[in-house]
Amino acid sequence: MISKFKEAFFQSTKHIHMNNGGLAPINKFARDRVTYWNNRFYEEGFFTDLEYVEDIKMSRIHLAKLIGCDSTEIAYFQSTASAVSQLCMQFPLEAGDEVITWAEEYGSHLFPWQEACKRKKAHLVMVKSPENLSAPYQLLVEKITPKTKVIAISWVQFLTGARTDLEALGKITKEKNIFLFVDVIQGLGLHPFDMKKWGVDAIASGCHKWLFSPIGVGFLALDQKHMKMIRPHNIGAYTFGTCDDPTDSICEPKLDALKFEAGSKQVLEITALGASVKFINEIGVADIEKETLRLATLLRTGLEKKGHKIHSPYELSNHQTAMVNFIPKDNTIEALRSINCNFAIRGPGVRLSPAAFTTDAVIEKVLSVL
Ligand SMILES: Cc1ncc(COP(=O)(O)O)c(C=O)c1O
Repeated sequence: MISKFKEAFFQSTKHIHMNNGGLAPINKFARDRVTYWNNRFYEEGFFTDLEYVEDIKMSRIHLAKLIGCDSTEIAYFQSTASAVSQLCMQFPLEAGDEVITWAEEYGSHLFPWQEACKRKKAHLVMVKSPENLSAPYQLLVEKITPKTKVIAISWVQFLTGARTDLEALGKITKEKNIFLFVDVIQGLGLHPFDMKKWGVDAIASGCHKWLFSPIGVGFLALDQKHMKMIRPHNIGAYTFGTCDDPTDSICEPKLDALKFEAGSKQVLEITALGASVKFINEIGVADIEKETLRLATLLRTGLEKKGHKIHSPYELSNHQTAMVNFIPKDNTIEALRSINCNFAIRGPGVRLSPAAFTTDAVIEKVLSVL
């Protein structure tokens, strides 16, 4: 099965993709969907109307299967940041409430929560990772007080690849009636996920990393039980009933997550995402995870053999993810550039993030220059 996954990607002889945790190449199913709708819009314009709407619906259905929620609980946005903003700006925080997060979060998650807390005079409690760079849920739990309303974290930390055990955290937040919000962009499609089973109340993500589809679309999935509590942040023709019926504007917003989609959608990106996620579901995330971790381990052990110091919490198996962050030597950057290998500078290290489409030969080539 995993060979079928690899075959869906362009195996470039010119580029080495080691920043898939930044922007990954898209697969051929996503590419073909963009081409398909591009041609249909060129040739048929508005006559495509009913069909592209149907394709967007299908995209939601594939994504819901991957997430473990209902398709009516998903709303599309332009980015992770805009999906996070929808949730946190409309979350009913009050002065003195507390929101717990990790201290090393990415800006698209951190800044919206900082702003929401500032506006509501709530307190953002930032929890630092321990020495071994892991992100254990117990540290978050220790910070819970009677004022804690939300735990808002990334599943996988973008700097180190540390992964928080959401299933264990979800049990506790459920018991204590705390809202659990997770930015899943660095894990969804890469590690198995189950929003409802794990008791996660809402997630936000983009699609250009482990979902291998075009950059420019994000989404929010919100458990239906909270749908009434979170009002739409952006308001437009689509917030209410049908977009062509202005009398609907006197009504309450729609009852499902579609109320968050204020206007026209990014049809090309959303349908491409649907095609890619359908393929990921067919291959199975467990197999994709297994192959990615095998390649990441190959890379990490190779780097260690060559005397590089690793800056990722790989010793703990359930914390391991695709990212291998290591401290560069004098010539590391030049060496990677010499083979046209991309990477990300993250904290004190260079972050390499192979994907399941990466081949062993590519890992060996990278190691040969380091
Ligand atoms: C944890 C995390 N959240 C979000 C994003 C992306 O945010 P956005 O879609 O707003 O650009 C990234 C990486 O780019 C990330 O690592």
